[in-house]
Amino acid sequence: MRSEVFRFFADLVTKNSGIEIKPEKTYLLESRLKELARARGLRDVEDLYQEASRKLTPQLRDEIIDAMTTNETYFFRDQHPFEALRKVVIPELKKLRQKEKTLKIWSAASSTGQEAYSIAMLIHEYFPELLSWRISILGTDISQEALKKAQQGAYSQIEVNRGLPVTFLVKYFKQNGARWVVNEKVRRLVTFRKMNLLDPFPPGFGPFDLVLCRYVLIYFSSDVKKKVLEKIAKVMKPKGYLFLGATENPLGLPKGFVRKVIGRTVCYQWQG
Ligand SMILES: C[S@@+](CC[C@H](N)C(=O)[O-])C[C@H]1O[C@@H](n2cnc3c(N)ncnc32)[C@H](O)[C@@H]1O
Repeated sequence: MRSEVFRFFADLVTKNSGIEIKPEKTYLLESRLKELARARGLRDVEDLYQEASRKLTPQLRDEIIDAMTTNETYFFRDQHPFEALRKVVIPELKKLRQKEKTLKIWSAASSTGQEAYSIAMLIHEYFPELLSWRISILGTDISQEALKKAQQGAYSQIEVNRGLPVTFLVKYFKQNGARWVVNEKVRRLVTFRKMNLLDPFPPGFGPFDLVLCRYVLIYFSSDVKKKVLEKIAKVMKPKGYLFLGATENPLGLPKGFVRKVIGRTVCYQWQG
């Protein structure tokens, strides 16, 4: 790929999504965009470049960004954060929010929805008393394709084999041909919406009792990461919790977050 072509696409993606693409990832950019080019009836990435540099419609821009997102996720990813939620965080929030009986949860960068549905199942399984509360789990992502799948809540056998206990599969899914579909009572707690973490958050967004922003900040520069964390701080409810990915460092985390260690999980509580 010509360096000019690489620069054009890498800059476009970074500017619009925060995702950084280093020159050593040229092969990744090329293989993902080749697929997009073919899907649009073009010969190769060079043709896609000609088209995009001539006239970049919002739809083509979004398709290029979508192609460059990594949507890797699975049910109960890393397990131990969900233990921390079950043993400490949700019981604590339950006590704190006893009066208002409302819990607002945000899966920021929810990809194909497994994280948001995992929390909904966890509530059904271990906190059925909360089902009479106003519980909302919002999943947001920049990728239209990932969101479409999240909204459908339909997963392959391979996808449900990753991280989901068999008892949960039997209890919270129904089989539809080769797919496993999240059942209505789990789905009722969850909604999905397209949202770019780089954009200003919409008015009235939050405040949240629990935010999971896992395995997305790793794709951003430290500057962008800091800005996103500052915006998240503004939509936290007092004493609300933030979870990052297990291997992610909290550099750029605003001061009001207090580090908590719960078993093998490190999370951050908002003290404002
Ligand atoms: C690796 S997945 C993580 C999914 C889930 N949070 C987890 O931990 O399993 C990263 C997700 O971040 C999304 N993403 C990347 N840049 C984004 C942005 N600027 N705004 C919102 N979502 C973004 C991608 O589309 C992708 O679905």
